Amino acid sequence: MNERIAYVNGSIVPESQATISIFDLGFQNGIGVFERTRTADGDLFRLDQHLARLNASLTMTRIDPGMSMAEIKRVTEDVAARNKPLRGPDGDYSVGHYISAVPGGQTAIPGGQATVVIFTEPIPFKSWARAYLDGCHVVTPSIRQMPMNVIDPKMKTTSRIHFHLGRLEAQLVDPEAIPLLLDENGNVCELAGHNFFIVKNGTLRTPPGEAILRGVTRDATLELAQKLGIPAEETTFQVYDVMNADEAFLTTTTKCIMPCSRINGRPIGTGKPGPVVERLEKGWAEIYGFDFVEQALRHLPDRQAARPEPGLTAV
Ligand SMILES: Cc1ncc(COP(=O)(O)O)c(C=O)c1O
Repeated sequence: MNERIAYVNGSIVPESQATISIFDLGFQNGIGVFERTRTADGDLFRLDQHLARLNASLTMTRIDPGMSMAEIKRVTEDVAARNKPLRGPDGDYSVGHYISAVPGGQTAIPGGQATVVIFTEPIPFKSWARAYLDGCHVVTPSIRQMPMNVIDPKMKTTSRIHFHLGRLEAQLVDPEAIPLLLDENGNVCELAGHNFFIVKNGTLRTPPGEAILRGVTRDATLELAQKLGIPAEETTFQVYDVMNADEAFLTTTTKCIMPCSRINGRPIGTGKPGPVVERLEKGWAEIYGFDFVEQALRHLPDRQAARPEPGLTAV
């Protein structure tokens, strides 16, 4: 079969036949949690860490998936393995877990089971590959991070309208920008779908883990920095510090580490990806065993002109 399969509520089905109920409360009210795990050369990367966070989100939201974490892991590995041959050249997957609530009562799905969906989605490397060379842009919108006493950002929930609104606003300033959300006191928190780091005098700084999603890639980056002897601290900082940083970058499962070259229309440091980010990218390839920059660049139509492959000359 050359169609990817997905897991939906106990069944493995072709992706085109994967459907959920209109009564699902994730769909209706955003009452759901999710995870995104990447594959590297088809194999799941840090699945245990993602499933631990999924379990924590389920616990906090009291959503019962109706299956054990061991079973979720077994199904995830099965879905990823079955779809692995369909990745395409230099392709990889973002593996999605979406689990939404169906409390008994008014809008319960017959049987009252939670919706559990596990699927693979090709990572759109081409759409962001160039940012590894030029750096991505961030803009701070007026929309603030969800306060901990409203929706604790440590939970990975499907309630993401604040990020969406932040993106619309940020892109009025810079059409390429990802919104970088501040808290109500002006401290930098995180981006829609990414954690944020700055580099100052050789030290990495990233916001503390209280009011952000504690990214699996953020952890992987802090571990990597330690192995490479790059000092790192979790500390509060503001836009002032970003504008005066030497370098900045974001981290997320699908992009791993991506340099960030502009904030609010102004260059950060030299306005180009810097040496510390480059060291982390190279260290990642050596220590974690896959070169995410090379992989993304191979999706560019003008790959050789953009940055020649090692050992090849630009034409
Ligand atoms: C709000 C938010 N912050 C940070 C991240 C990065 O987390 P991870 O590195 O686990 O992908 C994500 C990932 O989707 C996210 O949604």
